[in-house]
Amino acid sequence: MTLHKQCLIVFLFYTFIQLCAQERSSIPEVQELLDKMTLDEKIGQLNLLTPGGGVATGAVVSKDVENKIKSGQVGGLFGVSGPDKVRIAQKIAVKDTRLKIPLLIGSDVIHGYKTTFPIPLGLSCSWDMELIEKTARLAAIEATADGINWNFSPMVDIARDPRWGRIAEGAGEDPYLGSAIARAMVQGYQGTDLSHPNTMLSCVKHFALYGASQAGRDYHTVDMGKIKMFNQYLPPYKAAVDAGVASVMTSFNDVDGIPATGNRWLLTDLLRNRWGFNGFVVSDYTSLNEMMFHGLGNLQDVSALSLKAGLDMDMVGEGFLTTLKKSIAEGKVTEEEINRACTRILEAKYTLGLFDDPYHYLDSSRPKKDILTPKNRQFAREVAARSFVLLKNHKAILPLRKNAKIALVGPLADSRNNMLGTWAPTGNPDLAVTVIEGFKKVAPTATIAYAKGANITDDKALAKKVNVFGPRVVIDKRSPEAMIKEAVDVANSADVVVAVVGEATEMSGESASRTDISIPKSQKKLIRALVATGKPVALVLMSGRPLSIPEEYNMPVAILQVWHPGVEAGNAIGDVVFGNYNPSGKLSATWPRNVGQIPIYHSVKNTGRPNPEGKYEKFKTNYLDVPNTPLLPFGYGLSYTTFAYSNLRLDKTEISGNQSVNATVTVENTGDYDGEEVVQLYLSDVVRSITPPKRQLKGFKKVMLKKGERKEVTLTVSSDDLKFYNGNLEFIAEPGEFVIYVGTDSNAELSSSFILK
Ligand code: NOJ
Repeated sequence: MTLHKQCLIVFLFYTFIQLCAQERSSIPEVQELLDKMTLDEKIGQLNLLTPGGGVATGAVVSKDVENKIKSGQVGGLFGVSGPDKVRIAQKIAVKDTRLKIPLLIGSDVIHGYKTTFPIPLGLSCSWDMELIEKTARLAAIEATADGINWNFSPMVDIARDPRWGRIAEGAGEDPYLGSAIARAMVQGYQGTDLSHPNTMLSCVKHFALYGASQAGRDYHTVDMGKIKMFNQYLPPYKAAVDAGVASVMTSFNDVDGIPATGNRWLLTDLLRNRWGFNGFVVSDYTSLNEMMFHGLGNLQDVSALSLKAGLDMDMVGEGFLTTLKKSIAEGKVTEEEINRACTRILEAKYTLGLFDDPYHYLDSSRPKKDILTPKNRQFAREVAARSFVLLKNHKAILPLRKNAKIALVGPLADSRNNMLGTWAPTGNPDLAVTVIEGFKKVAPTATIAYAKGANITDDKALAKKVNVFGPRVVIDKRSPEAMIKEAVDVANSADVVVAVVGEATEMSGESASRTDISIPKSQKKLIRALVATGKPVALVLMSGRPLSIPEEYNMPVAILQVWHPGVEAGNAIGDVVFGNYNPSGKLSATWPRNVGQIPIYHSVKNTGRPNPEGKYEKFKTNYLDVPNTPLLPFGYGLSYTTFAYSNLRLDKTEISGNQSVNATVTVENTGDYDGEEVVQLYLSDVVRSITPPKRQLKGFKKVMLKKGERKEVTLTVSSDDLKFYNGNLEFIAEPGEFVIYVGTDSNAELSSSFILK
């Protein structure tokens, strides 16, 4: 054989090996397309832009978008909606580019599209997975009717620090509840067939640990050990992946010293190799570029690092677009790495059916049929009522009689602009129902006199900061004293006072952290003055986070926590205040006594110096100034009726292998109203190889009980519920005693134990 022939054989052999090593798409159409693409075209697919024009969701907007689409430099857009507008962009992509590759059209549909539901933190307090899935389904129907095929939701970041403004956007503090909600939302958005024009890609975010930013300051450093990560913070992301989520968004923070967007351990070792995720990964808004500020090098460095780590798409920052070609030339990344990312994005487009028909989300007749229909709004009203949590009901002030003489006061009683809540860029605050309007509708025979009573805040500088998206805080021309006087006069001539108080919409959400999470001072003064009248006072409290309200809680008042309830706010509040719906919400995040207790959550560990009595003792774990317990525990929430729990029994006292345990309890409605109760099960793993939390939520069921009715409720603890990630990060159960607690909140008292052999 000649040398020439030998060389040829070696060359062919290596080419063959290389081809085998290359990840080929399992979808032949995608592979065929990829094979035709130039390097520039592939890099273009990794670029996600926002042309601006809508509500800004980040600090910069993209430039020259139309030309970039034309020249094949864009894989997807967000912040564009409506079939006609989207069609313009999609047409450029499929008519004017060489390979006619359609665009992904993304959006932040966080709690409803145009039919705005309560903020996610509120929604999570319904503990009703069917309801939550339906909200996601309806959001997908509305959003896809408007041409959107990719949703940046759910946000599943566990948050145990209510200073963090984005606690509003998630499901609170608990990994078990958070995982159930993650599954429900992914299923709701994606349905069973992603190529159907009313389903959309879901994007779980922000991977990972974004909710654990230090001191509750947004975008701040995260520092967490793997055991806490795996057991407490990662489960909801994993639940979304297990439910088949199509995409993952990286977070702004670092994870163990490396920003999530460029973290290979996170994006490849964990997400792909350990969890088996096979969708695509997108950065958060310019989070790739921000790695420069994190101190990881210049734009070319961080772009190469991120691509290699497993990032597929770059949101807004154009680091991939502007540097990857150079990095290939310099041998810093390989074309194979670009192929891999591009394949994942093309596969998502294929799954959506965009290659068959790039316009199949663009039916101009749909918005009218599908968006903000009376039926959708009615559903939003029901959902909102189910998210409210009755925190206190002194002398059964609530519900009110429908013919009562009511003083309706407070800066949020007649404020349309604050009803939707944070992160509702697709909603329209003008369509929201105010509390006054809702009261008049639900109780037309009531006599209602209104007074504003106070500004949301008197602090002009704060008002300016929270008015970024519109006038949320309007500072009255009158003096605070004059406003309080008017409210007190109105209160004095009424039977009962309802004060609608709390936070403006943008006092929570992105970049809206607070170090003082009490009710603003202006409103505290109003509340004191109202209570001093001696009239019964019900506080309707709005906020995007757990607040610190020890003073108000100790007053002789009723407190109904309504979060930011969405487009049907006033009607839903009316329904609950006047007893059309008996509140059934339960807190999904602990309410502290004061900021000093933060981070505070229910699944704490015992420490070596526990203090179960709760009275201060020297050399025990406690504070000098407040008890360890929160003001209101996780899982807490009252009803207009009362429920009694008795007779907890387990079907087994010993199990092994994959066996499960059924815990049955008798629940009785012992009060005067029909009502729903969330029966909760907590589990304690008494002895194990790494320190266990005192108890952890491992089951819940929402049941309806008529007045006087009694039900047997059974909750099952599966063998997986006994497992945890041990010191080697293996997911295992260890033999020994487990105690089950069942009851109305995380302080559930009825208990029974079993042994795992
Ligand atoms: C930044 C936010 O962190 C993220 O949640 C959102 O999806 C993007 N902006 C896009 O708007």
